[in-house]
Amino acid sequence: MTSTTHITTANNRKKWILIAAARPNFMKIAPLMRAIATHNRENGNTIKPFLVHTGQHYDDNMSDAFFRDLQIPNPDVHLGIGSGTHAQQTGNVMIAFEQVLLAEKPDLIIVVGDVNSTLACALTAVKLHIPVAHVEAGLRSFDRAMPEEINRIMTDAIADHLFTPSPDGDENLLREGVPREKIFLVGDIMIDTLLFNLEQAKKTDILQRLGLEEPNEKEDKNGIRPYALLTLHRPSNVDDPKTFRRILDGLRQVATKLPILFPIHPRTKKQIAAFGLEDAFVFHPSADISQTEFRNEGNRNNRIHTFDPRGYLEFLNLMAHAKMVLTDSGGIQEETTVLNIPCITLRDTTERPITVTEGTNVIVGDDPEKIIKEADRILTGNAKQGQCPQIWDGKTAERIVNVLINREKSC
Ligand code: UD1
Repeated sequence: MTSTTHITTANNRKKWILIAAARPNFMKIAPLMRAIATHNRENGNTIKPFLVHTGQHYDDNMSDAFFRDLQIPNPDVHLGIGSGTHAQQTGNVMIAFEQVLLAEKPDLIIVVGDVNSTLACALTAVKLHIPVAHVEAGLRSFDRAMPEEINRIMTDAIADHLFTPSPDGDENLLREGVPREKIFLVGDIMIDTLLFNLEQAKKTDILQRLGLEEPNEKEDKNGIRPYALLTLHRPSNVDDPKTFRRILDGLRQVATKLPILFPIHPRTKKQIAAFGLEDAFVFHPSADISQTEFRNEGNRNNRIHTFDPRGYLEFLNLMAHAKMVLTDSGGIQEETTVLNIPCITLRDTTERPITVTEGTNVIVGDDPEKIIKEADRILTGNAKQGQCPQIWDGKTAERIVNVLINREKSC
């Protein structure tokens, strides 16, 4: 009897293809895979997840490290697309993904975020009449010079189910003419991953390895030496030497007051070499961020301490204990808001305005004076206070899976 039920259920299984492509996607895929597994355990295996990695990011520390840290199952298919111009990357993903869709005939595809692969996969599926769910829909920076903004607008225009993290996302979509019944306010999926992993992250030994936990005369009251954490990789910031130098002028002033730690994106590393900006940085060998080396350099000079990108858990631990975070990333604005860590955003716009209206985020652009002023505000104990937006509660993936299951039932 039981086995008959299982055979019947297995035959009726719906196939959902999930797309992972680049670093900021992996923390959005992990909770979805977990929520599908939970649903299957409790409801007799009705969904067959099929994970596709497009290979937009391919270095171990930009991709595999995240699969390990977040315990994401190995992809069912790896497209191995790699780097290229926007047209090459988008086009190559489309050509390769079309073959997967023709072979696998899924009932639905789920794309996340705003990278080139998000748009490429959504566009390929929609032309084959396969429904598309977009997780993290509705975000808008209103800056069309950002490649991600084009990816967001285009993906949302063709998706069938749009899952938004905050009410501003719903408003943007409604204004663009998306029917109300396609929009679901479900919360921020990155925060599912943050809350799920925070305790584990705090057990990583990155703070000790950096010599930040050693008591010394600069010790903070919680036993950790104050430091700032930096990420910087947007083309608009690092591809133009004038802008990059302006930002560095501000950062080097901040670096005279507390050490700045900078896990460096490959694009930024290339641009530092191309523009001859090495003087502003101390490069630490990635595998061995030796305490001695770091402490010897300390913040006696105004150079920025650079090392290879960290995995999810180590980076989260660094973020959770930072005095401040300086960034041009999108997701980090949200994560710092939830962690209640002051965030200085090195961009003129944000597609995540709720982190400014409710959270700890301040937008300063590339203006050195503003960077220094905001950092000083934090160092003198006057950091902007924030609160965690509603329904950023760790249950976003569960809500998404429930909506999609109900849709399958009504089909
Ligand atoms: C992409 C996303 C961006 C996201 C960022 C996170 C788009 C348009 N942009 O930008 O939204 O914030 O990922 O990192 O999709 N490279 C490596 N190893 C890798 C990946 C990249 O060396 O694993 C180098 C390549 O030489 C490449 C450069 O980094 O030229 C940039 O990579 P790319 O995927 O084009 O865009 P990102 O700047 O990473």
